[in-house]
Amino acid sequence: MATKTALITGITGQDGSYLAEFLVQKGYRVYGLLRRVSTDPFTRIEDLYGNGQIKLIYGNMRDEETIKNALKISKPDEIYNLAAQSHVGISFTCPDETMDINYRGLERLATEAFKQNPKVKIYQASTSEMYGNTKPPQSEKSKFAPVSPYGESKLLAHEKVVVPFRKKGFFICSGVLFNHESPRRGKHFVTRKVSHSLVKVKFGLQDMVTMGNLDAKRDWGFAGDYVRAMWMMLQRKTPEDFVIATGESHTVREFVTETAKYLGMPVKWSGKGLSEVAKDEKGRVVVKLDKKYYRLNEVNNLLGDSKKARTKLGWKPQITFKDLVKMMVEADVKLIVGSNEHKDD
Ligand code: NAP
Ligand code: GDD
Repeated sequence: MATKTALITGITGQDGSYLAEFLVQKGYRVYGLLRRVSTDPFTRIEDLYGNGQIKLIYGNMRDEETIKNALKISKPDEIYNLAAQSHVGISFTCPDETMDINYRGLERLATEAFKQNPKVKIYQASTSEMYGNTKPPQSEKSKFAPVSPYGESKLLAHEKVVVPFRKKGFFICSGVLFNHESPRRGKHFVTRKVSHSLVKVKFGLQDMVTMGNLDAKRDWGFAGDYVRAMWMMLQRKTPEDFVIATGESHTVREFVTETAKYLGMPVKWSGKGLSEVAKDEKGRVVVKLDKKYYRLNEVNNLLGDSKKARTKLGWKPQITFKDLVKMMVEADVKLIVGSNEHKDD
């Protein structure tokens, strides 16, 4: 079979890095869109996962010409649109930028991609955040009712780009993915913030971690499992949308409790509202709350029903909630204690 070519937008993000790795292992030629940032870009991705199979092209989802250029250079068979302003909390502060990247960005990409090659297949990174506070469990049949600018931008991308292009006969589909995490998760997302901070607390490098809403429930899976589902969706003959989730949800508080327990630093919760704290066995406060980490609007309870993906794609997650906590804690211990030991040398 001829070598397939994929273009990944958002290749420097959590999912982009796992997907690039996965596709290289499948024998793909992989191109990634890289936006210029002032800090050192993650260009080593080319060396880390490649042997020359990953190539990066400068571009930006906000700049049509750069998208055209990336498509002309890469000539992809499959496009994975993962680029996004992906932080829900920040979307309340930067709604226009969020909309331009997440919705208009897909519009620019899909319009040009289908013009250059009507046969190209496009995966769109849709999200459980589009359900807002629709009653769980949420499936492909549940109502979309976003409550954040991020959720709205992703819903517009789905309704105004994915659905109309598909109606015209093009191959484009949405993966409605529930939260997925990993040691590569950005530290401003709650799971990584917790694992990274509590490891520092455990090793005496930080006193405590300050957080927001502990009652929110999320259906947390492992990013490595979820990128496999993205690929599976594009191997089908006809494009369809799929919910990808574990079917198990936990509160943010439970994630903290499990992380602390795995670190051998069990915590007890006390207090109410903003005065709630978690204390370790010596009675030291290791988690406290601050209003600034609460959102203007909150999605309270996400729990996905991925029966359709399990039946039609044959997809199922391999990593459990406890495995995920263990994996993230162990990676942060290695990162933090490893680097600390290095400093002492
Ligand atoms: P992430 O780690 O935040 O990565 C986002 C990627 O988008 C980064 O590579 C970032 O590049 C890139 N990007 C941002 N703005 C861009 C622009 N203007 N032009 C080009 N690239 C741009 O996100 P993730 O967790 O990997 O998620 C991947 C996708 O899945 C996102 O679309 C997200 O909204 C969606 N999603 C994620 C989850 C989840 O739980 N992880 C669940 C459902 C849906 P820089 O490195 O330059 O910032
Ligand atoms: N980030 C963050 N920081 N969240 C906190 C904190 C904190 O200090 N304290 C509590 N939370 C709560 C948030 O209010 C939210 O209810 C929950 O923890 C999860 O927050 P995030 O990890 O930031 O993820 P998210 O659910 O808002 O969004 C992620 O998942 C979506 C899929 O449902 C992102 O990856 C989105 O891009 C993705 O679409």
